[in-house]
Amino acid sequence: MFPWDTLADVTALARSHPDGIVDLSVGTPVDPVAPVIRDALAAASAAPGYPTTAGTPALREAAVKALARRYGITGLSENAVLPVIGTKELIAWLPTLMGLGPADTVVVPELAYPTYEVGALLAETMVERADSLLQLGPQQPALIYLNSPSNPTGKVLGVDHLRKVVQWARERGALVASDECYLGLGWDAAPVSVLHPDVCDGDHTGLLAVHSLSKTSSLAGYRAGFVAGDPAVVAELLAVRKHAGMMVPTPVQGAMVAALDDDAHEKVQRERYAHRRDALLPALRSAGFTVDHSEAGLYLWATRDEPCRDTVAWLAQRGMLVAPGEFYGPRGTRHVRVALTATDERIAAAVQRLADPAR
Ligand SMILES: Cc1ncc(COP(=O)(O)O)c(C=O)c1O
Repeated sequence: MFPWDTLADVTALARSHPDGIVDLSVGTPVDPVAPVIRDALAAASAAPGYPTTAGTPALREAAVKALARRYGITGLSENAVLPVIGTKELIAWLPTLMGLGPADTVVVPELAYPTYEVGALLAETMVERADSLLQLGPQQPALIYLNSPSNPTGKVLGVDHLRKVVQWARERGALVASDECYLGLGWDAAPVSVLHPDVCDGDHTGLLAVHSLSKTSSLAGYRAGFVAGDPAVVAELLAVRKHAGMMVPTPVQGAMVAALDDDAHEKVQRERYAHRRDALLPALRSAGFTVDHSEAGLYLWATRDEPCRDTVAWLAQRGMLVAPGEFYGPRGTRHVRVALTATDERIAAAVQRLADPAR
């Protein structure tokens, strides 16, 4: 069963609130796509031919420049970038595209976006949940996922930690895939890319950064992302993806160029989430929640020190829907994940309900 389907009852309960549901569960963007991006989508919509799997030169150039401008990533060439049909697609198929199988191990964070494990299951690899290299001992995994800032916890990995993982992986010939979906959303910490020279000394061998435009540019509906990093790995992925028909539609490629070239809308979106966080975080604390990590990203990782399904039900009685922490791994059973992706009006409603929880 798809985990979200288990929320049907609490969803119905939250919906029955007289002032309507405040849905802080899935984390889907709610703010309209910026006009500059929609115009680019329209401008590219007359092209009749097949798109290129590798992405247009304009798209690859825009991605390289945006990574440099926004995140200080240097030394990337344009053949080290590859568009994907949303990063969930890439993550679900990466072990398969790399030719991994039952003899291989994929390492995922203890608390993680579930699709890392889905990708391992599709390729029938082994899966190991680990946050520290010590936990892995003498193993030689094929692929290690990092996710900083984390979904669901909002935890940020420091430069020292990232450096150690890169070195450890290189010694063992493992590929590091760093899912950097929330890299631009640092609040109380400054997230750093695995491709930043402070982490990898400018050497991208064995490293892939996975970048989604879903959250930074509210393009979840367009299905737009890309990977960047080791040119040899990118070339291998490109070759398989060409055969498999995994290409990003031409209008979406056009829209991605506009989104990557324009930092203004990205800043506006970031500010929106910052304001929603500033409202929701103290409201949760005043209502008796402890909020752990959550120094960056789109989620608050909160607990009432009780089983997560009890907290989900408590909030649903007050018209709010959140995700149970157990969706993200066995260590999440006493937390809930509260997304910042609701309109200002709905966030204000949540704040009011948390201030008067008896109602
Ligand atoms: C950590 C993480 N990675 C990847 C994704 C997938 O994003 P998309 O497929 O929209 O690019 C998400 C979506 O919520 C996510 O939280």
